[in-house]
Amino acid sequence: MDENDYLEIFDESLSRVTVLNKDFIGKFYDHFLASSDEVKKKFVGTDFQVQKLLLRQSLSYLLEFSSGLNDTKHLKKLAVSHSKSQIDVAPALYDLWLESLITTVAEFDPDYDKKVELAWKVILAPGIEYMKHHHNQ
Ligand code: HEM
Repeated sequence: MDENDYLEIFDESLSRVTVLNKDFIGKFYDHFLASSDEVKKKFVGTDFQVQKLLLRQSLSYLLEFSSGLNDTKHLKKLAVSHSKSQIDVAPALYDLWLESLITTVAEFDPDYDKKVELAWKVILAPGIEYMKHHHNQ
């Protein structure tokens, strides 16, 4: 393993948290919903069985975007669904989303350290910026 390859560090951490712990995503939503009343309100009525599966899949959309840095059909659709005219996710809420995710990684990844934290942040940042940018589009 190349210890300076953040994509590899991210991939290995992702497989540790999802392979070792089936409830990783459930715990993520516990943290995310507790992070602000605004977030909690948005998810009133959500079926979390479905939502958990969707989140797992959508992590791969963020990853796909950061590998190519080109519009992808998947992320574009997700950005539109979260924009002002639809679910209306204010840009600041993405910071809570990422913080909640990192907190969960820290709890579930036995090899978590500052470098793993940085890897999650740098790999997901492009897709998150893309989502924020489309709030008003
Ligand atoms: C980059 C970060 C995020 C990803 C990857 C993501 C992913 C998804 C996916 C895949 C869906 C279902 C498909 C869709 O509606 O397009 C969804 C729905 C949703 N997301 Fe996000 N999301 C993110 C950030 C957020 C944030 C910050 C909020 C703030 C509250 C949020 C609130 C919601 C809500 C309310 C729904 C609809 C749930 C329902 O169907 O009841 N999302 N998200």
